[in-house]
Amino acid sequence: MARILVTGGAGFVGSNLVLRLLATGHQVTVLDDLSTGFKHNVPEQARLVQADVNFAWDEPVDQIFHLACAASPEKYQKDPLQTLRTNYVGTTNMLELAKRHGASLLFSSTSEVYGDPNVSPQPETYWGNVNSFGPRSCYDEGKRVAEALCYSYAQQGVRVRIARIFNTYGPRMAPDDGRVVSNFLVQALRGLPITIYGDGSQTRSLCYVDDLVAGLLALMAAPGSNLEHPVNLGNPCEMTVKQIGELAIRLCGSPSTISYHPLPQDDPLQRCPDISRAKTWLGWQPSVTPEVGLSQTRDYFKQTLESKEAAGHKQ
Ligand SMILES: NC(=O)c1ccc[n+]([C@@H]2O[C@H](COP(=O)([O-])OP(=O)(O)OC[C@H]3O[C@@H](n4cnc5c(N)ncnc54)[C@H](O)[C@@H]3O)[C@@H](O)[C@H]2O)c1
Repeated sequence: MARILVTGGAGFVGSNLVLRLLATGHQVTVLDDLSTGFKHNVPEQARLVQADVNFAWDEPVDQIFHLACAASPEKYQKDPLQTLRTNYVGTTNMLELAKRHGASLLFSSTSEVYGDPNVSPQPETYWGNVNSFGPRSCYDEGKRVAEALCYSYAQQGVRVRIARIFNTYGPRMAPDDGRVVSNFLVQALRGLPITIYGDGSQTRSLCYVDDLVAGLLALMAAPGSNLEHPVNLGNPCEMTVKQIGELAIRLCGSPSTISYHPLPQDDPLQRCPDISRAKTWLGWQPSVTPEVGLSQTRDYFKQTLESKEAAGHKQ
C-alpha cells in the first residue's frame, strides 16, 4: 500500500484517478483548494486537505500525482496570475516535496504546450507553436514552465513523469465546466442550441477518462529513465467540432440546432496526439470509442441535471 498524494483530486480527472487508486488499496490524500473541484467528488475513504498548492505542504509520501490546475479555458482565464502561480510555485512545492521524501511525481501537462500546431498528429518531439502573449498563455506557458521545472528536478535525481494530456471527458465533469463535451451534451439534453465557435472545422481528439486514468497509472508505474521525457496520453480518433456537436445531438435524441459564434483568440485549429511513445513505452492505448464514451457521459449529465432540478423543486 503506497501513500499517495493527489493534488487537484477533487476535480474531474483527479477524482476519477482517486477512485481507481482506492480500489487498488492505496492510502490517498487529496490536496485541493476546491477552486474548480468539489468536496462531493472526493470519496470518503480518501482524506481531503483543503489547501492551495502554492503554500508549503509537508508529509511523508511515496507518490505524487500533481494535477492541481483549472483546465477549462473559461476557468483558468478568470485568474491568470493564479494559473501561472499554480504551475510555477505549486509545481515547485510538489517537486520539493518529492525530493525531500524520495517520492515519484507525475505532472499533468497538456496538449496545449503544442499551441496551434503546424504538424499533425503531434509527437512529443514537436516543440509547439505557442503565443506567449495572449489570453491562453497563462495556461500554455504555465504548463511549459512546469515541464521545465520537472526536467531540472529530474536532473537532480527526482523521479519525474510528465503526461501530456489531450482533451479528456467523462463522468464527474462539471456540467458548467465550459469545455466542448460538457457544453454540447448539456445543451443537447436541454434542447438548447449547440454553440460552435468558428465554422466547426477545427478538430479535437476525445479521450474517455477511464482510458486516461489507465495511462496515468501505467506512466507512474513504468520503470526506466527515458520515461522522464513527456508522454502524450490521448485518443488519436480525431473529429471536427461540428461532428462532435452532431454526435451529441444524435446521442441525446435532441431537437437542438447548431449556432455558430466567432472563434476565440488562439483557439487551436487541430488537435491529434501521436501516441507511438505511450504504445511502445507503456503498452498503453485507449480503447473506448467516442460513441460509447459520450453515451456514458450523457447518462452521467442526465442524472446530474435531474438531481439538480429535483433539489431546486424542493427549495
Ligand atoms: N481534462 C482534460 O481534458 C485535460 C487536458 C489536458 C490537461 N489536463 C490537466 O489535468 C489536470 C486536471 O484537469 P481536470 O480536467 O480534472 O480539471 P478540473 O478543473 O476539474 O480539476 C482541477 C482541480 O485542481 C484544483 N486546483 C486548482 N488550482 C489549485 C491550487 N492552486 N491548489 C490546489 N488545488 C487546485 C481544483 O479545485 C480542481 O479540483 C489539470 O492539471 C489539467 O491542466 C486536463
